[in-house]
Amino acid sequence: MYNSKIVGAGHYVPEKIVTNKDLETIMDTSDEWIRERSGIEERRFAEFGKDTTSNMGTKAAKIALERAGLTVDDVDFIVFATLSADYYFPGPGVTVQHELGGKRTIGALDVRNQCSGFVYALSAADQFIKTGMYKTILVIGSELQSSGLDLTTRGRAVSVLFGDGAGAVVMQRTEDNNKGVLSTHLHSQGEFADALCVKGPGSFTEKKFYKDMHLDYDNTSAQMDGQLVFKNAIVRFSEVIMEALQANGYSPADLDMFVPHQANLRITQFVQRKLQLPDEKVYSNIQRFGNTTAATIPIILSELWEQNRIKENDIYVLAAFGSGFTWASALIRW
Ligand code: ACO
Repeated sequence: MYNSKIVGAGHYVPEKIVTNKDLETIMDTSDEWIRERSGIEERRFAEFGKDTTSNMGTKAAKIALERAGLTVDDVDFIVFATLSADYYFPGPGVTVQHELGGKRTIGALDVRNQCSGFVYALSAADQFIKTGMYKTILVIGSELQSSGLDLTTRGRAVSVLFGDGAGAVVMQRTEDNNKGVLSTHLHSQGEFADALCVKGPGSFTEKKFYKDMHLDYDNTSAQMDGQLVFKNAIVRFSEVIMEALQANGYSPADLDMFVPHQANLRITQFVQRKLQLPDEKVYSNIQRFGNTTAATIPIILSELWEQNRIKENDIYVLAAFGSGFTWASALIRW
């Protein structure tokens, strides 16, 4: 058995910054409401015709490869997580395979586990590497959510929270079993599938989505029971982090960094208090990017990489909770 380790991280966010004040001009909301409830100050929105979910992922992947000192021809497999794919099908993994321009017809797997998508994708890649099937895997999280947001007062409870962007990591085989991804922990509770969802287009209805479905607002816009999500998130985040720590004989005091999915600053602060972590051991960028769903965690890893903050032997926990409900964690020793 091998271990997998992250050898490069990159990210790309669209140029267009949309502040809370900008949103005030198009819907009945306020900078104060958004900041107080979520911590968000601004987010990025993609430019139609320039950014797509897949090409943002490709840009992030190219940076990650460059930082790893590798080229596309070193990559054996792609795992791509998103809830906002370019097409209904196929998923964006194949587009990235094409856009990267490599010589080989490597496989591409699409993961759709929403806010937990990146940790699920990392876990899948880790298993492929552990068994020896692949040596080098690109794991990408990318979201172009703005085109699906209702930016009117009707959609404000959801639309003020989300933003666009992409992050990617390169994972590679290591024979050092004390390094890299030490363990991953994946959970779901489908009884809450309807608490945070976009139903259509889908097979739950006999409506034909090529002619009827797009007129059905309730079933094609995001539905969220925010308070139910919040209450479950704070419990599951803490649980799944402790699960990862205990599986490896660690306690919260051993952590060098907590990399949480960024759904709400208040969720992160609650978990931080519960684990008694000092501010310098918790990374938040929700203020600048909002919730970028599957892209959030790899964007953070790329920012930490850029800031040279990742040190050898540092212990990191990645944790996410979101639609499904799904939640997941990964414990990493760099
Ligand atoms: N601007 C102004 N007022 C608003 C807005 C807005 N953008 N949105 C809602 N309101 C109003 C509501 O209508 C309501 O008004 P009322 O009291 O007159 O009915 C009031 O603000 C309070 O709304 P609540 O929903 O009770 O606000 P809450 O404090 O719960 O905060 C929030 C909402 C931020 C969504 C919070 O519940 C939350 O963060 N939940 C978790 C979200 C999450 O973790 N999602 C998971 C990841 S997403 C994924 O997986 C895809």
